[in-house]
Amino acid sequence: MTVHFIGAGPGAPDLLTLRGRDLIAACPVCLYAGSLVPEAVLAHCPPDARIVNTASMDLDAIIAEVKAAHAAGQDVARLHSGDLSVWSAMGEQMRRLRALDIPVSVTPGVPSFSAAAAALGAELTLPGLAQSVVLTRTPGRASSMPEGETLTNFAATGATLAIHLSVQNLTSVVADLTPQYGADCPVAVVYRASWPDQQIIRSTLSGIEAAVDSGISRTALILVGPALAGEGFDESCLYAADYDRRYRPQSAESPWASWTPESEQSHD
Ligand SMILES: C[S@@+](CC[C@H](N)C(=O)[O-])C[C@H]1O[C@@H](n2cnc3c(N)ncnc32)[C@H](O)[C@@H]1O
Repeated sequence: MTVHFIGAGPGAPDLLTLRGRDLIAACPVCLYAGSLVPEAVLAHCPPDARIVNTASMDLDAIIAEVKAAHAAGQDVARLHSGDLSVWSAMGEQMRRLRALDIPVSVTPGVPSFSAAAAALGAELTLPGLAQSVVLTRTPGRASSMPEGETLTNFAATGATLAIHLSVQNLTSVVADLTPQYGADCPVAVVYRASWPDQQIIRSTLSGIEAAVDSGISRTALILVGPALAGEGFDESCLYAADYDRRYRPQSAESPWASWTPESEQSHD
């Protein structure tokens, strides 16, 4: 018996991995975080599966469900939105399951920041503008932030910021970021990326508050940084015609002239 943690993706049911889909189809029990996991993903469950929405349950009740499945020798599909590596509460569940000696597996999912970037048609790391993406949030009722992980500290890097769980704090986000990024810095708010009711709001730090409908209070990402402009960046060396690299040596004298994928493997 195994508990399979599965990233259910950002919302669109076809943004689920094939591995995730097959595991859901193979598990007689499915526990899903109903606040964000789309019902359509549950269509992959076996017809007689026990399907439990854990949105209103506490950790003890969730673990009790797993223990019951364990006692019955039934595999569990545990679904969380997006990917499991960020804000999934997988860590605390896994700690309990390890203490109980219950085996686990982890299947990644498409994170919401990727879905939001795709909706914008944006590369978040444009040469000369930004080469890092910070996945962060602002403090919430259920979670404080470790000292040092402030928006002002992250803003000092100039990186692209993907700010989760924070659209309700837009006023303070703008106040914290404007001194470093400037009032004209591009911002995008993507509401429910990949869902049928997805909304994209593009503006600047000075304009974003007025542009975002006050009805958008959750399930939105705030993306901030010069890369969001999608212009004024350098081309990468990777595809430059004169860039000497192992896949495209520029002359017989190139260190890569005699390189082949097979020769690299034989050096491993
Ligand atoms: C509890 S976190 C879950 C994050 C998730 N594990 C991930 O990989 O993206 C929920 C937050 O993720 C963001 N989020 C999740 N799904 C989203 C979507 N489809 N569109 C925009 N933001 C989303 C929002 O900021 C939301 O408040």
